[in-house]
Amino acid sequence: MEDVRLMHEAGVNLVSLAIFSWSRIQPTEDVWDFDWLDRVIGILHDGGVSVNLATATASPPPWLAHANPEMLPVLADGTRLWHGARQHYCPSSPVYRSAARRLVEAMAERYAKHPALAMWHVGNEFGCHVPACYCDISAQAFREWLQRRYGSLEELNRAWGTDFWSQRYSSWEEIIPPRRTPTWPNPTQQLDFMRFSSDALLDCYEIEREVLQRLSPGVPITTNFMSFFKPLDYWKWAEREDVVSNDSYPDPSDPASAMKAAMAGDLMRSLGRGRPWILMEQSTNRVNWREINQVKPPGLMRLWSYQAVARGADGVMFFQWRQSRAGAEKFHSAMVPHGPMSSSPGWREVVQLGAELRRLDGVGNTQCHAEVAILFDWESWWALELPSKPSSALRQMEQIESVYRSLYEANITVDFARPRDDLSAYSLVVAPALYMVTDEGVANIERFVGAGGVLLMTFFSGIVDESEHIRLGGYPKPFQELLGLNVVDFHPLGIGQHVGLRFADGTAARGTTWSEHIELGGAESLATFASGDLAGRPAMTSNGFGSGTAYYLGTRPDGAAMARVLEIVCSRADVASGAETPHGVEAVRRVGKGKSILFLLNHRDVAVEVPIGEAGTNLIDGTEVHRGLLRLEARGVAAIHEGW
Ligand code: GAL
Repeated sequence: MEDVRLMHEAGVNLVSLAIFSWSRIQPTEDVWDFDWLDRVIGILHDGGVSVNLATATASPPPWLAHANPEMLPVLADGTRLWHGARQHYCPSSPVYRSAARRLVEAMAERYAKHPALAMWHVGNEFGCHVPACYCDISAQAFREWLQRRYGSLEELNRAWGTDFWSQRYSSWEEIIPPRRTPTWPNPTQQLDFMRFSSDALLDCYEIEREVLQRLSPGVPITTNFMSFFKPLDYWKWAEREDVVSNDSYPDPSDPASAMKAAMAGDLMRSLGRGRPWILMEQSTNRVNWREINQVKPPGLMRLWSYQAVARGADGVMFFQWRQSRAGAEKFHSAMVPHGPMSSSPGWREVVQLGAELRRLDGVGNTQCHAEVAILFDWESWWALELPSKPSSALRQMEQIESVYRSLYEANITVDFARPRDDLSAYSLVVAPALYMVTDEGVANIERFVGAGGVLLMTFFSGIVDESEHIRLGGYPKPFQELLGLNVVDFHPLGIGQHVGLRFADGTAARGTTWSEHIELGGAESLATFASGDLAGRPAMTSNGFGSGTAYYLGTRPDGAAMARVLEIVCSRADVASGAETPHGVEAVRRVGKGKSILFLLNHRDVAVEVPIGEAGTNLIDGTEVHRGLLRLEARGVAAIHEGW
């Protein structure tokens, strides 16, 4: 009762429930205890609060693991992970899968018709602690997955290139997950194991979804994502969700956090193909799992909540409601803190946010609109970061962030897309280090440029096919005609090393991470290397292709120079900034039928004045906003319904 009263005070209308409750619901194999859950759901319902009900499968009870130790996951080095924490299951374990199915059936049978039920929350953060299992059961499941993929051993041997280092398999039984080996395991084996491991967890999700769709039709289903989480191919997962939801825990001490969280928001919106998503978890204040867990300064939780809304979220939630007294997360912040609420700035901010969000109905049925897409493909990410490359300093996220940052700082909204997705809605497509690409992806990118699109591709793209075999004939073979060039060889740069760059207009800049020997084959050079072995050779090029233009970068220009590159390509693509704002102020628009809401987010810890081009009403406090300058307090926010 006290909780419901506080929930009303905080404006809470949806509660995630029972996420780690399996051992309470099913204390032993044949004993079920739903009384407490009935009571809690009943209290919430009476208080007008809806429930995002978990299937509770994320942490199997000790009795299950104790009776079936073979269901516990195993690491690449053979170490078995025991029960006593959470997520201790092998995703391929038939014991785990059937026990989980039984639990979900029991949950769905009991609560499908409950009026408080608003959504099903399957598992929790799949793969968070155990993204892959290397046990014998997984090995067998991996073999079956490979049989489905390749059909014959001969085809597998071809795809894995097993003649190299005498790895040819003569029977399926010889194939194992890439366990700990003397040196690098076969790269395609590793890549396939990542594909398999993402699919194995997705199968667990699908088992639950099938039960829910059968026993609880019509109730939306979600599982909470973890932003750019490398082990799971969320493109595949999101297709199987009714609502995309995300957990976001940016580090308050990292100056890049705002940009990274914006990027995660854009990814969630893109995964849902533009549908509204939910910020499922964030902390009100400190977390407990970093080395040093810094507080969120006043206003930051509110600011980051609005940032999610600005980038397409229609719901803002938290982990956790009450700060726990026992267990591993008792020092993690919560909406309701350990101490008295009266002295908790966190609680006051929660209450303020809850009251404000109620006024944001106008945001319903609006969404962000992007003219720019960044190509992002999980499989290519996995392949790019396999070992034994020209440079292990080449990391997918860094390459994406370096282009995203320039667009973010220019207030240009970005979608993420797969290389094979329909790109026709975009004016500009950026492909940062798109190392692995399928023939379908190549054809799609060509089609986009041919039809008038503008492409910016960066180095080490189009290098391998989906088996991770080099596409022979000069790099990047599938894009040579599109880009009008040939890359003779890669010259990666050392950590901290720079290479000089000179743009055609004479301005100087620096590149990091990479350089390469580019031979022009029709393209025009827009910038050259200005130092080192490659001095005088092209570093950035452009090439007309069909009615579009394909730009190419053979290095990673640092800071301002990357912004300059993006300016060049955006201007060619006619993509303009969404709003001119002072440094540190993010501007994003959500638009809908006849309405446009401009979110202004001041990420700085001082007040700023933001030029306003179009008058409107700030939905957060109902004030009128006039053309001219709008003052935004430190970490302040405005959501301006433009036009009156
Ligand atoms: C998430 C998880 C929650 C909680 C939280 C702490 O990964 O879903 O259960 O552990 O992190 O920040």
